[in-house]
Amino acid sequence: MATIGSALTHAAQLLRNGHIVAIPTETVYGLAANAFNEAAVLQVFAAKQRPSFDPLIVHIGQRADIHRVVKELPPGAEALMDAFWPGPLTLVLPKQALVPDLVTSGLDTVAVRMPAHPLALELLRQLEFPLAAPSANPFGYVSPTTAQHVADQLGDRVPYILNGGPCTVGVESTILGWDVGRWHLYRPGGIALEAIESVIGRVEPAVKQVLPVAPGMLESHYAPRKPVHVGNVPALLRRFAGQAVGVIAFRSDHPAHRCEVLSENGDLAEAARHLFAVLRDMDSSDCTVIVAEEFPQEGLGRAINDRLRRAAGAR
Ligand code: TXA
Ligand code: MG
Repeated sequence: MATIGSALTHAAQLLRNGHIVAIPTETVYGLAANAFNEAAVLQVFAAKQRPSFDPLIVHIGQRADIHRVVKELPPGAEALMDAFWPGPLTLVLPKQALVPDLVTSGLDTVAVRMPAHPLALELLRQLEFPLAAPSANPFGYVSPTTAQHVADQLGDRVPYILNGGPCTVGVESTILGWDVGRWHLYRPGGIALEAIESVIGRVEPAVKQVLPVAPGMLESHYAPRKPVHVGNVPALLRRFAGQAVGVIAFRSDHPAHRCEVLSENGDLAEAARHLFAVLRDMDSSDCTVIVAEEFPQEGLGRAINDRLRRAAGAR
């Protein structure tokens, strides 16, 4: 079983020796390996049962390290890094040859970000290499926002979980890619689209056909085991009358078997922070079906709606 602890030097030593370690970030916990060590990265795919066609995000601890993984910076990249790093923004950029094909699934681009969690930053700054890390959950399941979430699901597959407390953002990073001369939104996340557009101007929606088959874009992902339905809660409660319905609501209560309000003040950042823990709780509760309302499609509401929609995806 994994040890949960906060021994930074122990985590660093394991990573140097080619082992995997679960690490906290401000978004969700990651399952990390030396990005330049293919055998170590292979263990990440194995532990998650992740298909090798789904590329990983490379995490760096300082700006200068970008040049070790990225070949060239397109217009706007510096401004984005100035504005949002360290923080929940991932950029997909032309890769350096040194980055193993396994990390990028053979693409000529690499996803890179500098996380804002103090422990993750300190760890990255102690290490001589960047860390490739996807979210630390079995492939397709809800991402972990506490060390215990990681232990619950991957405890027998990872030697050490670095405990950095509950994640403060709670949804994964926003992913932007530079493609055909423009910035595209590959995944809504912890940095609001509005904030990004105030720095670089208009961002295009993802163009599906130029992208790999990326599970972050699959219809069913981030999914609990129980059925999830998103939409008008009173109507869904009528549809599932007689069942133990768990409701995930934004601001106010609904009369159901169980109802979790994500933010009484209507704060989308607070709602995002609680989303995955509530989905997990509901999944392990006696509820038989999970129902969620749609959140305002603005700020972090875009990321929340995206995760809920995929949690509800066809299976
Ligand atoms: O907040 C986060 O981004 C967390 C923390 C741990 O940093 N990480 C995370 O990783 O969410 P993961 O693997 O669960 O999601 C990364 C997504 C995948 O859907 C993958 O397809 C996409 O990033 N991605 C990675 N490299 C890419 C590339 N070169 N082109 C397009 N998409 C890429
Ligand atoms: Mg993931």
